[in-house]
Amino acid sequence: MARIYTLVNQKGGVGKTTTAINMGSYLGYFGQRVLLVDLDPQANATSCLGVDKRAVKSGIYEVLIGAVPFGSQVLHNPRFKLSLLPSSPALAGAEIELVEMDKRESRLSEALEPARERYDYILIDCPPSLSLLTVNGLVAAADGVIIPVQCEYLALEGLGMLTQTLHRVQSTVSPGLKVRGVVLTMYDGRTNLAMDVVQEVRHFFPEEVFQTIIPRSVRLAEAPSYGQPISIYAPDSNAAKAYMNLVSEMLRQDGITTPILE
Ligand SMILES: Nc1ncnc2c1ncn2[C@@H]1O[C@H](COP(=O)(O)OP(=O)(O)O)[C@@H](O)[C@H]1O
Ligand SMILES: [Mg+2]
Repeated sequence: MARIYTLVNQKGGVGKTTTAINMGSYLGYFGQRVLLVDLDPQANATSCLGVDKRAVKSGIYEVLIGAVPFGSQVLHNPRFKLSLLPSSPALAGAEIELVEMDKRESRLSEALEPARERYDYILIDCPPSLSLLTVNGLVAAADGVIIPVQCEYLALEGLGMLTQTLHRVQSTVSPGLKVRGVVLTMYDGRTNLAMDVVQEVRHFFPEEVFQTIIPRSVRLAEAPSYGQPISIYAPDSNAAKAYMNLVSEMLRQDGITTPILE
């Protein structure tokens, strides 16, 4: 049965999509069957993996509104070692359509039920908002949310609001919702500020912050324009090693022993 983790932070540009893609491809690298669900109408994860969002005829939107069952929309990429449930601009309309629908907060969770047999990990990449789409992502996060936090000034700003939303979803539709982990991203070791932020975030989430910190890296910023995860674009870079370490750490915590691959 797949573990389902949702990457969430209503702040844009903190590394949700980058983490979803690279965590996904390294989970695949370590032999896990991975499905990445692009839940953002901007379809960045879809584009970053080299898929033209305008050419997506059927994707997460159709699954969410119940037009088609989960399955045929999935694009498997053996080279990237992951499968993608793509997004498309049509998803922007779902926000409004969902409001009228039955069980509007748990549609994604229900739609993904058949996928849980087929994968070991399902990662859901949320839009930068606390919208109904994100709430669907939270309710579907059967094994918790992963919160990427950028190591910069005011990093904690907004985490209070996110925590409130998590509590609200917990107390209404999803009592078991928990924080699986916090990933520190875009760390620049040359600045005192970045070190201060690491301290602050560890103080705010004493148990949840992953040891592995993702450095700021030009390679990571470049990889999307080649439509590739870092494991393919620059496997020897520090950023690639960081994502690989992050995934090893996560697998270890999940009780999965990873083969030594080299
Ligand atoms: N560690 C990093 N170092 C440098 N650039 C990064 C890093 N992580 C993400 N980026 C870049 O920062 C931008 C925002 O990242 P993204 O993952 O799209 O954030 P989000 O999904 O939270 O909006 C993207 O252009 C991405 O390529
Ligand atoms: Mg994103």
